[in-house]
Amino acid sequence: MPLTDDVIVVEGLTKRYKTVTALDGFSMRVRKGEIYGLLGPNGAGKTTALHVLMGVLTPTAGRVTVFGHSPFDDRETLAPRVNFSSAYVQMPFNLSARQNLDIFARLYGLPDRTNKIESLLAAFKLTAMAKSKTGSLSSGEQTRLNLCKALLNDPDLLFLDEPTASLDPDIADLVRRTLHDFQKRKGLTIVYTSHNMAEVETLCDRVLFLHRGKAITEGTPKEVADRFKKDSLEKVFIHLARTGDVMDAETSR
Ligand SMILES: Nc1ncnc2c1ncn2[C@@H]1O[C@H](COP(=O)(O)OP(=O)(O)OP(=O)(O)O)[C@@H](O)[C@H]1O
Ligand SMILES: [Mg+2]
Repeated sequence: MPLTDDVIVVEGLTKRYKTVTALDGFSMRVRKGEIYGLLGPNGAGKTTALHVLMGVLTPTAGRVTVFGHSPFDDRETLAPRVNFSSAYVQMPFNLSARQNLDIFARLYGLPDRTNKIESLLAAFKLTAMAKSKTGSLSSGEQTRLNLCKALLNDPDLLFLDEPTASLDPDIADLVRRTLHDFQKRKGLTIVYTSHNMAEVETLCDRVLFLHRGKAITEGTPKEVADRFKKDSLEKVFIHLARTGDVMDAETSR
């Protein structure tokens, strides 16, 4: 029986693309209201894991539940409660930022579209650019527009794939504070990937390192750093990525 506060349960998840095994018996549990960081080198399987959790990809083997539902079979049940943002997904370029948000707000069937859109534009400092064509926004502004879209339907669970990848330090800080605020006020659960370990240390309640599709080690940022006798997650990351110290890591889980 899963604990009631486990929003996500993944057990023995394997995902193969033709010849590549992207996820290899991967397991994780995410609790309600936590910010959970999925970390690992390029190609480790992070985006694949998020896509399976969003029901975009079907697993080759294993069990996945989100709020007790299958993300593939129960997409309609889960859709109103979940949203995502990725630095690598773009909205139509010829529409303004506000128009794009309006389209999503209509799709989500929001009762009070205008207020919601304006408050999110303000939260991410985009009000001045709201009339600009989306294609003319800088990559950091487009990233923030994607975050506005992701919060439009007041989700209970948010998947963020490298949400701060193109943000300057000041705006990245604003985004982190805004996400923390949503987490606190709404009990939002966030599963997020990033290669910025200093950011992960400030944002995440718990982290999991993936290596070649396997879960290597998990815990609070401090627990993980202590386990490897390092003073930062960055040093743990480099250690795991360079040495592929899987046996050592597995015995220390
Ligand atoms: N559509 C696909 N077809 C075939 N192989 C794929 C496909 N998508 C991903 N892969 C492979 O699966 C593995 C995991 O990729 P994934 O994108 O999940 O990694 P990631 O951890 O998100 O990496 P990054 O940090 O670079 O974003 C990689 O070896 C990748 O080449
Ligand atoms: Mg990725």
